Amino acid sequence: MAKTSQTEKEQIAQLAWQVEMGADEVISEVPINRLEVAEPDETPIPETKAAPAKTQAAAPPPEAAEQEAGDLAARARTLAELNGAVAAFEGCSLKKTAMNTVFSRGDAASGLMLVGEAPGAAEDRQGKPFVGPAGKLLDKMLAAIGRNSEADYYISNILPWRPPGNRDPTPAEAAICLPFIKRHIELAAPRVLVLLGGVAAKALLDVTDGITRVRGRWFCYSVDGQEIPAMAIFHPAYLLRQPQLKRQAWQDLLEIKSKLDD
Ligand code: URA
Repeated sequence: MAKTSQTEKEQIAQLAWQVEMGADEVISEVPINRLEVAEPDETPIPETKAAPAKTQAAAPPPEAAEQEAGDLAARARTLAELNGAVAAFEGCSLKKTAMNTVFSRGDAASGLMLVGEAPGAAEDRQGKPFVGPAGKLLDKMLAAIGRNSEADYYISNILPWRPPGNRDPTPAEAAICLPFIKRHIELAAPRVLVLLGGVAAKALLDVTDGITRVRGRWFCYSVDGQEIPAMAIFHPAYLLRQPQLKRQAWQDLLEIKSKLDD
């Protein structure tokens, strides 16, 4: 096999980084320094030579996308229909850089629904939530309260698409996707709802405090006449970085177990 030179290795690493950051198209052989490109009014394009503009569907403004997501979500009468509506939705730019739409994993009939933030690299590749390192820890946490298999829980995320490079979603991206997860919870109708981390807690509970203050308390998530007991707990990815917090997470899990056993 031909040996890969140091330069080639560097080029492959640079390419991998660009893909990770969301680059998905090569439009020129050499990079363009946009800061050095003259303002359009300084370089008028001769009318006769102007290339025809490439017609590309412009992304709808965020308010219109949010409205469309709300309409599509409301129209879905089953989880399968909602899955189809999310997968067909083109109003969120995150979809363009993601490999897959990540809808859910597990069994909605289990009574326990968990909602995380957004897919990471492993989830994006497999099209399923919480299948990477944080997911492995989450599976162990659930097994510790007797929820051993995918028949015993149901998992989704606030965002169905991975933000490039795992960056934080913008408020507009989160707002556009929110009607989908709200309808998702409504259709799954769990007996207990668990929000994994501060982003999910802030998006779905009426709270502004951080996760350290909010975790471990029961809230009431109201949707279409249903009152669902909801608790926020530390995100498993956070617990991987701060293992000393597992003690508090364990207390929260016991609370959740006791609510499910009621
Ligand atoms: N983190 C999340 O919030 N969701 C996933 O699906 C994976 C990691």
